[in-house]
Order: sequence, then C-alpha cells, then structure tokens
Amino acid sequence: MEIKKVGVLGCGLMGSGIAQVCATAGFDATVLEVEQKYLDKGFAGIEKSLAKFAERTPEKGGITAAQKREILARLKGTTNKADLADCDIVIEAIIENVEEKKKMYAALDGIVKKDAIFASNTSSISVTELLTATKRPERFIGLHFFNPVPLMKLVEVVKTIATAPAVYEAAYEFAKRLGKVPVRTSDKTGFIVNRLLVPYLLDAIRAYEEGVGSIEDIDNAMKLGCGYPMGPFTLLDFVGLDTAYYITHVMYDEFKERRFASPPLLKRMVMAGWYGRKSGRGFYDYSDPEKPVAGMF
Ligand code: 3HC
Repeated sequence: MEIKKVGVLGCGLMGSGIAQVCATAGFDATVLEVEQKYLDKGFAGIEKSLAKFAERTPEKGGITAAQKREILARLKGTTNKADLADCDIVIEAIIENVEEKKKMYAALDGIVKKDAIFASNTSSISVTELLTATKRPERFIGLHFFNPVPLMKLVEVVKTIATAPAVYEAAYEFAKRLGKVPVRTSDKTGFIVNRLLVPYLLDAIRAYEEGVGSIEDIDNAMKLGCGYPMGPFTLLDFVGLDTAYYITHVMYDEFKERRFASPPLLKRMVMAGWYGRKSGRGFYDYSDPEKPVAGMF
C-alpha cells in the first residue's frame, strides 16, 4: 500500500496547507477545486508560506530557493475530478457540510482507483457518516490537520468501526512521512483536540459574559499564565467564529451536554457576520491587522 500521489479536495486554508505539506514531504499532490479562482487564491497562500520557510535557516525548518521550486513543481491544481484517478490517497478538506462532502465522495468513488484511501479532514462531522457515500468503507479514515497546517505538528488519525487495520496503519505512517506527529483516535465527535478545546473556548466566552474579565485580560491570563501561544479569544478569531459555532452545534447535537452549547454572544456574532480575522471583525477588530483592538460587548 505505497502512497506516492496525493489528491486534495479543496484549496482553502486547510486544503492548501495539506497540499503544501504533502509536496514538502516529497509527494506529488493534485488539488481539486470547483473554480480556478479558488486554486489561484490557495496557491498564492502556499507561495507566501513557502517564502516564509525560505527565509529561515535549515535548523529552524527552513528551505532553499531550489527546494521551494521543487515543492511547487510537485503541486498541481485542477478543476477536473478525472485528474485524481491515479491518486493513492485523497484527502478531503472542503466545506464542513455533510451533504456536500458526501456528494463529492460519491462522485470520486467511481473515478479514483479502487485501492486508494479516502480521508477526511473534518473536525466534527462523523467519518462513519461520510464513508456511507462510497463503496470503500474499509479504506476510509479521518486525517484531521490543524491550522496553520504547515506549522502545526499534530494530525489526528481517526479510525471508524469499518476501517481496515492495514489502511489505518498506512495512514498513520503517511502522517509521519509528512513530518507530523500522528495520534490515534476513533470516530467520536470532536476526536481528542476539539473534545477538550471546544468546552475551554466556550467557557472563555461564558466567563466574559459573566464579567470575570475583559477579552484582553482573559487572553493574557491564559497566554501568560498557562503558556498558551494564543489566548482563547485570539484563537477563536483565528479559527473563525462561524467554524467554531458550527462545531459546537455538531458536538452539542451528539452529546447533549451544556459544555458544548454555544453561548448567546457567539451566536449573535455569527449572525452579525463577525467571523473573526477572516471577516475583519470578531472578538477583536482587525482594521489594522498588526494591532487588533479588543471589543466590548
Ligand atoms: N507558513 C509558514 N510560516 C509561518 C506561517 C505559515 N502559514 N504562519 C506563521 N509563520 C511563521 C512566521 O513567519 C514566524 O517565523 P519566524 O519565527 O521565522 O519569524 C513564525 O511562524 C511564528 O509566527 P508569528 O511570530 O507570527 O506568531 P506565533 O509565534 O504566535 O506563531 C502560531 C504562530 C504557530 C500560529 C502560534 O500562534 C500558535 O501555535 N497558535 C495556536 C494555533 C492553534 O491552536 N491552532 C489550532 C487551531 S484548532 C484547529 O485547527 C482545529 C479545527 O478543527 C478548529
């Protein structure tokens, strides 16, 4: 079960990052999008990220200009599903919508070679539900990467009750070959990280709603008191409030526990279109992205 060529579905933040780490690790990677403009945007992000790596020393994970060119040469963008036919593994990172994902898998199931592995980067949708769209349930797994993909070392490798052990091990080894640290987990909503991270982030919002501290002070408290790289509100804005809100819904629906329920403020911010960094406003105002200003709600 040798993996040589990777297909990536979606060239957004996660898809482009996944394609980048695959190409950096020496794999040929073809990214599928619905329109060329999304490929252009994703590839521009890859260029920018690789340029940052090119500025670093090799000891700090840096690459040379020649390596950058080789990485880019291993990457291909396409809007034609047939270009994924000979992939050994296909990693889906499209919109977090069950129906859209199932439609995509069903279409690719008849195109991509039969022994290829299908993987989903979903953070909260049941991998088991997704595999029902294909005729290869035993060759279906979850591979959950973290944002920003080129920097975050973790990959959650998700096993379903239908996954063949050999497929799981191949995916686990593949994650290692990407230079990541894989962890083993099973198809329980939220896996390991979101199971623990989501209640923490939601509690930060509740603490703010209850007047425990300001947004900046809560962020600083967790950053400086616990050594986290970002405080909870900075991280929420970074992940995207729409994404966080969606995840809370799926998790609350699964567990019916208050710790996964969205606080009213998060819902209202999403209704208002305040999605965090990507929309220019969330818990912070990013009018000047270098100097975000904390809001007061
Ligand atoms: N590609 C390449 N290099 C990058 C980069 C990218 N995309 N983004 C930043 N860098 C580089 C910077 O240029 C800088 O390089 P330098 O040290 O040579 O100057 C270095 O990385 C550090 O960046 P910054 O100084 O800008 O900022 P930080 O030191 O804070 O590091 C961070 C940035 C790695 C994002 C760090 O803040 C962090 O780890 N934050 C937490 C992220 C996190 O928790 N992610 C998980 C989110 S949850 C998730 O994804 C799951 C989903 O299901 C919701």
